[in-house]
Amino acid sequence: MNFEKYPFEKLSLLLADIIADERYEPSVLTIGEPKFQTPTFIQDELKKTTELLQKYPASAGLSELRKAMISFVSQRFDVNLKFEQIIPTFGTREVLFNFPQFALFDKKNPVMAYTNPFYQIYEGAAIASKAEVIHINLDETNNFKASLSDEELKRCDLVILNFPNNPTSATMNEEELVFWVKKALEFDFVLLNDECYSEIYFDEKNKPISLLEASIKAGNTNFKNILVLNSISKRSSAPGLRSGFIAGDEKILKDYMKYRTYVGCASPVPLQKAASLAWSEQNHVDYFRSIYKKNFELARDILGIDIPNATFYIWLKVDDDLEFTKKLYKEKNIKVLPGSFLGRDGLGKGYVRIALVEDEEKTKEVLLRLKEFIDE
Ligand SMILES: Cc1ncc(COP(=O)(O)O)c(C=O)c1O
Repeated sequence: MNFEKYPFEKLSLLLADIIADERYEPSVLTIGEPKFQTPTFIQDELKKTTELLQKYPASAGLSELRKAMISFVSQRFDVNLKFEQIIPTFGTREVLFNFPQFALFDKKNPVMAYTNPFYQIYEGAAIASKAEVIHINLDETNNFKASLSDEELKRCDLVILNFPNNPTSATMNEEELVFWVKKALEFDFVLLNDECYSEIYFDEKNKPISLLEASIKAGNTNFKNILVLNSISKRSSAPGLRSGFIAGDEKILKDYMKYRTYVGCASPVPLQKAASLAWSEQNHVDYFRSIYKKNFELARDILGIDIPNATFYIWLKVDDDLEFTKKLYKEKNIKVLPGSFLGRDGLGKGYVRIALVEDEEKTKEVLLRLKEFIDE
């Protein structure tokens, strides 16, 4: 399979011959990995349950985990899911890679569309599925909103949206998502929204909505053709816990569950126990959110930019993203990710992605250094 090099590998090659100015502390703003300790109540539960490693985990997951996820969806999105409408998963990356292969397996000439620039697993999944790809380009001309023509939509078997979006931080509102739900029904394609960043938002009165809510709003109350993914990695600062879910269309999930039995990526029982607690508790999520909010406010004040309403990424417009990245590393010892590594067909070019995942003090220091670089 002809997979592209991963963006971080491309970055290592780009910076390989550059010697960074060591008068500065190295700052790595490339990876979307929260730098905060996973809350101790989650860690303690994991420690307490290690003797359960003696058990094979069931593919369907513990029912207490499913219940905790159902309760999260209900509290956060006011959507009440049945047991059959949700499957706990080993984070969401594995789903993003294997779900397209499952969903497209029976198609003679599969067509898959996804937002561009993108989280690279979407592309890997399309390659593994031998699918034709239609890019849903997100750029300034469409205000980073997803749209395709009816001609294109007609051809799609699977569409992956990702709002709140990595890397552009764009969001889509209810009306816009309702439009997509209607198109998924009209043209009979599976519509999946990757909602990994749904909890990293800053305006309590304008929280990112779920595609499940949009589906109900569109009158599609049994979620036909509609699926969402969510993850604990970002919201609970626990990417190592590997806990996510896929939820929505019961008919699709029934067959997908059978497929997953063969994939064999069930989460170890102690991880599931700890994840159950993490999904049930919201105060720690509020706490992390307040840190990301503060970081974005610092970025606004120091860099003088408009800040997004969700995620922890700044999608910064620059002249030449590759040159900017190299020079910033050389002169200020700061690593950012060039946008052109994250998109295809020229999308992402002229932008860098900056992940603000450190505490306030570190973020302030690095933003001041970045500002100095931009001014110079
Ligand atoms: C858009 C998006 N989707 C999915 C993931 C995967 O997250 P996880 O497998 O930890 O749930 C990431 C991680 O960076 C991401 O940015």
